[in-house]
Amino acid sequence: MKPITIAIDGHSSCGKSTMAKWLATQLGYIYVDTGAMYRAVTLFALRRGLLTDGNPDTTALERLMPAVEVSFSLNHKTKQPQTMLCGEVVEDDIRTMEVSEHVSKIAALPFVRAAMTQQQQKMGEQGGIVMDGRDIGTAVFPNAELKVFVTARAEVRAQRRFDELKAKGMEASFEEILRNVQERDYIDSHREVAPLRQADDALLLDNSDLTREEQNAWLLQQATNVIKASEN
Ligand code: DC
Repeated sequence: MKPITIAIDGHSSCGKSTMAKWLATQLGYIYVDTGAMYRAVTLFALRRGLLTDGNPDTTALERLMPAVEVSFSLNHKTKQPQTMLCGEVVEDDIRTMEVSEHVSKIAALPFVRAAMTQQQQKMGEQGGIVMDGRDIGTAVFPNAELKVFVTARAEVRAQRRFDELKAKGMEASFEEILRNVQERDYIDSHREVAPLRQADDALLLDNSDLTREEQNAWLLQQATNVIKASEN
């Protein structure tokens, strides 16, 4: 039985990574967070001083792209995958506000997308993978056996982020978060190369009114159906 490829795309802040990671564990598949890869390239650019006033030095970054090695390893303590940049663990460094603020511009550069897409296709060559991102079902694995497009109402996503920040004791304005969610939706869906869109053959999962358990049960059911069908 050939393990299948599962592509999970969708809007930001709707729990894609959590559900993709959970599904991979259930199936014994590899999980790849492609957002982390774009974040790692952004960290590389920041560390090399290739971003001035938010604008990337595209000539220098393109020249240096062959040196940007992004990979994943297992953190033996947390048992979670961790992002590596040129052999260094950068899992925490790629989640900072500074990286979040610059990643959209870096992820929109065609030569960055080409390099990351190539690496992602190599990682998924053998199947047995759950990959989450924005363009997995449309550009990276257009032939994935299962594609899911995840969304939720912007207000629901903003509320979830607001609650998360509050739980961490951080100050947050709901209006500001909502604006940020809507802005990221717009940038992700309107860039020229591989914009965020639902693939024609992707299943739509709107989790606005679902509990995590309901959502996970639905997801596992879809994966099981496809795996069973591929066995026949
Ligand atoms: O999922 P995330 O928020 O960590 O993603 C970070 C950024 O990378 C976000 O601006 C969208 C972009 N991205 C992308 O363009 N293509 C992907 N396959 C994954 C993420």
